Amino acid sequence: MRLIAVANHKGGVGKSTTVINVAAALASLGHRVLVVDTDAQGHTSLGLNIQTSNKQTLAELLCSEHVSVSDVVQRTAVKRLDIIPSDLSLAIAEVKLSTMPAKEYRLRTKFKGIEDFPYDFVIFDCAPTFGTITMNVFTVAHEIVLPIQLGYFSLEGVNTFIDTIQFVNKTIGSLVNHTIAINGVLITAYDTRTKLAREILVTVQDIFKDTLFKTAIPQNIKINEAQSHGKTIFEYDATCKGAVAYMSLAQEIIERDIHEQYKQDAKKSKEKAISR
Ligand SMILES: Nc1ncnc2c1ncn2[C@@H]1O[C@H](COP(=O)(O)OP(=O)(O)OP(=O)(O)O)[C@@H](O)[C@H]1O
Ligand SMILES: [Mg+2]
Repeated sequence: MRLIAVANHKGGVGKSTTVINVAAALASLGHRVLVVDTDAQGHTSLGLNIQTSNKQTLAELLCSEHVSVSDVVQRTAVKRLDIIPSDLSLAIAEVKLSTMPAKEYRLRTKFKGIEDFPYDFVIFDCAPTFGTITMNVFTVAHEIVLPIQLGYFSLEGVNTFIDTIQFVNKTIGSLVNHTIAINGVLITAYDTRTKLAREILVTVQDIFKDTLFKTAIPQNIKINEAQSHGKTIFEYDATCKGAVAYMSLAQEIIERDIHEQYKQDAKKSKEKAISR
């Protein structure tokens, strides 16, 4: 099971759009996917046309002792794609959470045994903050997909993000023997027509090298339209360039399994230590 957080503390860079459409692409390729909406804006839940009224959500999972993962999972209209939704009640839950003991590990505790659930991928949509709920995600997920846009301020804050991940690993991660790493940097809403975007692309390729996904998601109005209809890009227009790009990204993510690599490296070094 791969546990992937789509995160950037910068707002509006395409996190929710990426979660919705990568999850749908993975599901269409035959994988079983659970999306976890960890943002009180609930954009991923809305984008997948999920109702939260009279339903338990991530807020209840985090704050109520007797609520378990299976109580909050909902099916989506997409085959093999389930969701733990969120809505504004998560904002109140975050305030409650901040007064609880071991507040960064609530999700980790609830996700104990997640490996026994029938999912190949769990994909977390993060809020544009480093708040308590995002810290909860970072102590559960192993990999990060970091979406960026090629605007004038696009790289501002990326170093802060990388430093924060290292800090999380050294502090709250190390207490539970958990690490999270950036699997890939993803360019979103790319507009090839602008000279500035093309120039920034060169800088971004130079900085991130192999960490940059080969796939860049183009600016595509169909992506906006799909969301406003509560549909994934594949339900809305499976042949548009946005759909083709998200499918290609899903394939790259499948091939780029850094956690498996990490586990194999750890196993090899353990075997080496034993044979000495
Ligand atoms: N490739 C794209 N082409 C066109 N529009 C896009 C594309 N990607 C995202 N958008 C639009 O940009 C807006 C912001 O995207 P999105 O909500 O996914 O960002 P976000 O990082 O999740 O934002 P937040 O930080 O507020 O959670 C949305 O209106 C979305 O439809
Ligand atoms: Mg979002």
